[in-house]
Amino acid sequence: MRDFKLELASFLKDKISCLSQEEIYAMIEIPTNDNMGDYAFPCFKLAKELRKAPPIIAKEITDTIDIETVDFISGVENINAYINFFLNKTLLVQEVITDVLKEKTNYGLEIGNKKGNVVIDYSSPNIAKPFHVGHLRSTVIGNSLYRIFEALGYKSIGVNHLGDWGTQFGKLIVAYKKYSSKEAVEQKGISELLRIYVLFHEEAKNYPEIEQEARDYFTEMEKGNEEALDLWRWFKEVSMKEFERVYKMLGVTFDSYNGEAFYNDKMAEVVRELEDKELIEVSEGAKIVRLEESNMAPCLITKNDGSSLYATRDITAAKYRKETYDFKKCIYVTALQQNLHFAQWFKVIEKMSYDWSSDLVHVPFGMVSMEGGKLSTRSGNIIFLEDILKEAVDKTKAIIEEKNPQLPNKEEVAKQVGIGAVIFDDMYNNIIKDIQFSWERVLNFDGETGPYVQYTHARACSVLKKAGLNLEELPSFDIDFTRISDEATVAIVKELGKFKKIIKDAADHYEPSYIARYAINVAQAFNKFYHDNPILVEEEILKNSRLSIVVATKYTLKNALYLLGIDAPTQM
Ligand code: ARG
Repeated sequence: MRDFKLELASFLKDKISCLSQEEIYAMIEIPTNDNMGDYAFPCFKLAKELRKAPPIIAKEITDTIDIETVDFISGVENINAYINFFLNKTLLVQEVITDVLKEKTNYGLEIGNKKGNVVIDYSSPNIAKPFHVGHLRSTVIGNSLYRIFEALGYKSIGVNHLGDWGTQFGKLIVAYKKYSSKEAVEQKGISELLRIYVLFHEEAKNYPEIEQEARDYFTEMEKGNEEALDLWRWFKEVSMKEFERVYKMLGVTFDSYNGEAFYNDKMAEVVRELEDKELIEVSEGAKIVRLEESNMAPCLITKNDGSSLYATRDITAAKYRKETYDFKKCIYVTALQQNLHFAQWFKVIEKMSYDWSSDLVHVPFGMVSMEGGKLSTRSGNIIFLEDILKEAVDKTKAIIEEKNPQLPNKEEVAKQVGIGAVIFDDMYNNIIKDIQFSWERVLNFDGETGPYVQYTHARACSVLKKAGLNLEELPSFDIDFTRISDEATVAIVKELGKFKKIIKDAADHYEPSYIARYAINVAQAFNKFYHDNPILVEEEILKNSRLSIVVATKYTLKNALYLLGIDAPTQM
């Protein structure tokens, strides 16, 4: 596709000798209001060099422009210090639509895995604790980043860094022995493990000695005590069964489940390396790396009883991942409460003189609250994700029953829409923002929601079906681009043309929300186009020309939803 911005920069270069083409390119703006043209060039920066007021410069340059000499500009206008350019609409529509129809179902998705590996560490729930709404965010954001990087030509490697090691397992073993039984855990799964974990903390208030018992058990685990390890393995199995159910509902997969325990036999070497590099200081029996020069508390490497910590396992895992995958980037998706943890150990990697420390990226997200309450495991005030997903599907089923009872495949569509709605809502705003979960917002088919985007996609499919087209194998069209240059058509086409840039921006900022908001913009622009332009008209060439917009929109919406990890039913 032609890069009109670049062509404009080259065109302007001849008129502005004191700037390079790159400088001009960087200065070209895209006005927020279509009345101001498709591109605008501000002249403020030229004032010093040319010793004139910016509006005068803008006027003088505008006077030298003869738009007849280029095919892509249809108008130029000087307003104050700006020169506004209007693109040739027919050419613009032709370029974008030809591009989309050429790439077809792959539009926006650069397949090939040529750019190297990107490791994405997401979901990473803790064994024996339920998968809650907070983990949902990590799972869906990570899954979306996975797809976004693949769409840009990287090979994504999804790692579920399970929280399957640490002192909490000592607590769980003690709690199990004191308050539970084999039958109870087998029957009730994670909820029983959670019950006794919560109970442990309550009991510890009155009987603090059980804390020491728990620490001792964890030390035993680290030493390889088989009785303790058997229990730990069993807790893990029970938990994994429940996690897998949720991943299946969400349609999320991983390339590796190497969790914290995987690094047990690899940590000693890292501690030795830290000592060799003279980064370790012993403080009250604990080994720490001081980070005062970075204004941070020290990073704890081993406790005074020699046991490892969360950071020790992360440092070891990062080294392992670099050796195994030689990643271009290693991305960690967690709640922002872990900011300090990541800042600390990233710094430790830097101090170890690994130049790839700058390729470690923490992507923090805000909290999800429900009914005002914070979600935490300790107090037991958590909401099980599975229940939310099930409720979303049930509520969607009820909406479908009411709005479209004839729909075939109701069960399947309710799943795609209900779960898609929850996923979309999690990524609609910048991910650093907290979310107050609301059923009313999430399932509003007319709002800025997943169902609205899915519905628009289904509407495009239904038009294509009415036109007698096979959705799997869409034909090529004879298109008369001069017939599709009305305002609403140009507006949707401009949106479609932005897709690749949006994907790139989403990756650069680690923000799936860019894709979510883009999908809404496309859906809104399409619905305006659909409202303004009758599509299935008599005249064949006009009909096909408009159908080409419908087809291009269908490809774009489907792929945008895919990048968010959401299905696109063809009917709903
Ligand atoms: N298990 C942790 C939690 O649930 C998240 C782990 C994130 N990944 C990592 N490599 N630290 O809070």
